Amino acid sequence: QAFFKPIQNMAPPSPTNRHTKISVIGTGNVGMAIAQTILTQDLADELALVDAIPNKLRGEMLDLQHAAAFLPRTKILASVDYSVTAGSDLCIVTAGARQNPGESRLNLLQRNVALFSKIVPPLAKHSPETILLIVSNPVDVLTYVAWKLSGFPSNRVIGSGTNLDSSRFRFLIADHLDVNAQDVQAYIVGEHGDSSVALWSSISVGGVPVLSFLERQQIAYEKETLEKIHKEVVESAYEVISLKGYTSWAIGYSVANLARTILRDQRRIHPVSVIAKGFYGIAGGDVFLSLPAQLGRSGVLGVTNVHLTEEEARKLRDSAKTILEVQNQLGV
Ligand code: NAD
Ligand code: LAC
Repeated sequence: QAFFKPIQNMAPPSPTNRHTKISVIGTGNVGMAIAQTILTQDLADELALVDAIPNKLRGEMLDLQHAAAFLPRTKILASVDYSVTAGSDLCIVTAGARQNPGESRLNLLQRNVALFSKIVPPLAKHSPETILLIVSNPVDVLTYVAWKLSGFPSNRVIGSGTNLDSSRFRFLIADHLDVNAQDVQAYIVGEHGDSSVALWSSISVGGVPVLSFLERQQIAYEKETLEKIHKEVVESAYEVISLKGYTSWAIGYSVANLARTILRDQRRIHPVSVIAKGFYGIAGGDVFLSLPAQLGRSGVLGVTNVHLTEEEARKLRDSAKTILEVQNQLGV
């Protein structure tokens, strides 16, 4: 006997009632921070987890399932077999080696490219319409690798890029000015890493452009102070890694923030890694790096035409050059 007696003449489910599925590949510190933020923010009806270590994977799945009484309803699956990801709307890749204290992100490349050839083709096979969101480092080069391996159009391959660095930037500016970071608009673009570029001309607080405000009020600001804040952004991850071994919470929120914009078609602008050839004089090959991009249900909708100073544009082209030099060693 069924637990519930079915209601007679029940209307068929509405076809507009969409079922949303997210897959997270790699259930380490970063993958689990993302998974748990996705669950608490009610972003998916189904969450599939994949990792190469079956026991750890099953343990993580059970541990999350045991929180069901405290969370919005989400079906949680896990397997080492990629068929578990079939029909995903969004696949988030976090698998791979992470930095040792003091090690650069670019140094992880060879180890993580080898993994991507095992991860991306099965994801693309089981979810041919999915959007790929790459998080593993070095994220810009690996987004390029995922684009190549998937054969997807470039609007459906995105790197989490400097969405995280920009949050760190906004936090530091907010701290400096004693305001709420959510009222600070400020972008870091370029490589997610050492050659990232701070767009000082983009900073506004509550709609007030900060640099021109200071100039109008004839308040002197030191270029060194600005550079110090950017240096702090660049050093943030190194500091956290030297203290706790890895970074996880901020990237968890950053990626859930991207997932919400994409899956709910929010059309918000995020600095994320997109194919950048042709923008701001970037030439020399297909390179992915972060630019302020509008995101929605079909992935990247466009790149915002923000005004860059000559110095900012030059630094952005230098950042593209740094990534391309690494990418050219790959032969993908
Ligand atoms: P971790 O070591 O905790 O987890 C990595 C996971 O990947 C492990 O569970 C491992 O079993 C799994 N894995 C390895 N090979 C696999 C394969 N072939 N298939 C499936 N899973 C596999 O590392 P972490 O701290 O979670 O970091 C993961 C990655 O995320 C690193 O590359 C790190 O640098 C990167 N990261 C990126 C950002 C960003 O802003 N883009 C932020 C933080 C970390
Ligand atoms: C970050 C990682 C390590 O937290 O890329 O910035």
